[in-house]
Amino acid sequence: LKQLLFKKPNEPPMVFHWFPVIGSTITYGMDPYRFFFANKQKYGDVFTFVLLGRKMTVCLDTKGNNFILNGKIKDVNAEEIYNPLCGPVFGKDVVYDCPNAKLMEQKKFVKFGLTQEALRSYVTLITAEVQDFVKRHKVFKGQKGTFNVPKVMAELTIYTASRSLQGEEVRNMFDAKFADLFHDLDLGFSPINFMLSWAPLPHNRARDNAHNAMIQVYSQIVRERRSGAVKREGHDMIWHLMECKYKDGTPVPEHEIAGIMIALLMAGQHSSSSTIAWILLRLATRPELVEELLQEQKDVLGADLPPLTYEGLQKLPLHAQTVKETLRLHTPIHSIMRKVKQPLVVDGTNYIVPTSHTLMSSPGVSARMDSHFVNPSHWDPHRWDAGMHNYEDSADAETIDYGWGVVSKGTNSPYLPFGAGRHRCIGEQFAYLQLQTILVAFVREFKIRNVGGKREVIVETDYSSLFSRPLNPAVVEWERRGKGEEAELG
Ligand code: HEM
Repeated sequence: LKQLLFKKPNEPPMVFHWFPVIGSTITYGMDPYRFFFANKQKYGDVFTFVLLGRKMTVCLDTKGNNFILNGKIKDVNAEEIYNPLCGPVFGKDVVYDCPNAKLMEQKKFVKFGLTQEALRSYVTLITAEVQDFVKRHKVFKGQKGTFNVPKVMAELTIYTASRSLQGEEVRNMFDAKFADLFHDLDLGFSPINFMLSWAPLPHNRARDNAHNAMIQVYSQIVRERRSGAVKREGHDMIWHLMECKYKDGTPVPEHEIAGIMIALLMAGQHSSSSTIAWILLRLATRPELVEELLQEQKDVLGADLPPLTYEGLQKLPLHAQTVKETLRLHTPIHSIMRKVKQPLVVDGTNYIVPTSHTLMSSPGVSARMDSHFVNPSHWDPHRWDAGMHNYEDSADAETIDYGWGVVSKGTNSPYLPFGAGRHRCIGEQFAYLQLQTILVAFVREFKIRNVGGKREVIVETDYSSLFSRPLNPAVVEWERRGKGEEAELG
């Protein structure tokens, strides 16, 4: 009754809850999509709920995605929400610890560093890393066995991303001290840090020590490279950032290069390792699709499966569709948040969202709606056979140039796993390249399937962190391919 009586007219409806501060924290936290769909049915596309004392206004479907993700900078703000969590992890003067205009310049540096030449070299480096990984990893000894997909894929992703984007020095350190530093720094993204970002949590000391040590490591790499002690080889992002200048002519200082590299490592690692894990977990439910993927490689690249190239990768639509379809149902970022800077009327409604609320968008909801996708809960890479077209890129859409890329101004796509607007992901191209290259190499090496041939995906999603991922452990069977492809699973 109190919730009804004290609701201001024109504010969006409040999701009913029994306890004031806890609000809907538990139901939302356990399964955000179930929560969003249940409340969408009760209240419509716009509603407010209480998350640990904060009022979150959710705006769903394509209108809601567009309203929040393409919100103007005077209306909505990301850094005030994300910096308490990301600031201590990424560091000073980068990403959310600086004015948005500076972030836009930093995004431009990264985007422009992903040149064709760089991407071309990454395909070779990533392939070599996967081949080496499956040769030396203990779970892949022998002819067949099982492996815990999320754990093993997290390891593999860090090696492939570090060898390509991060550069050889960082990759070599991952076998030794860097892995521990990464682990400690990652504690900064624990769910508890998100909930209590202001609190002096016990693991924050380990996080801060790891952060300082990592900044030192990257700064040292930059200094050694600048001194000429390390010869320029390859196209990693550190080399590129060392050459970038802000609009006012200032080169990117060492600590900012370090911070940007840490941000790329953290942003890329969780999203990509979760996605490749889901790809394999989904393929394990459909072993015949693994064979179809191998056949695609043979048909397009040649029956003898020559070494993969960047050009070859572009010619494998089913591989790209497998990534795309997996991101539809398993987008790693289930909730995107913005601070409200001035009272906002929600597009197409009479609702006014006050500045005391936080806006929440979930493009994963429109990606699961049957008004946009036939049989949406069914995972099927072939649903994209007619084309990988994204409404967002349609020629008649109005666009805006953020400096780092031209993005649709009013997106009406129900499929936005990489977000939209000024904060849209800059890692999409690299992520696709990394995920597809791993997939190509994996399919060449192994057959996979669920234990007992189960056709359903074997684990639920763990939503407890900022990035959702498959619950650990999730064990599937692998079998090494015979020379003549005659090996049979089981
Ligand atoms: C932002 C998704 C991989 C770097 C974002 C956002 C999404 C996203 C939805 C927007 C967040 C928001 O609006 O608040 C993904 C997915 C990935 C992926 C699904 C992989 C499957 C990567 C990789 C990198 C990266 C590999 C780095 C190489 C970034 C950065 C931002 C971002 C720096 C922040 C941009 C900003 O706030 O302006 N990503 N990402 N991402 N992503 Fe990714």
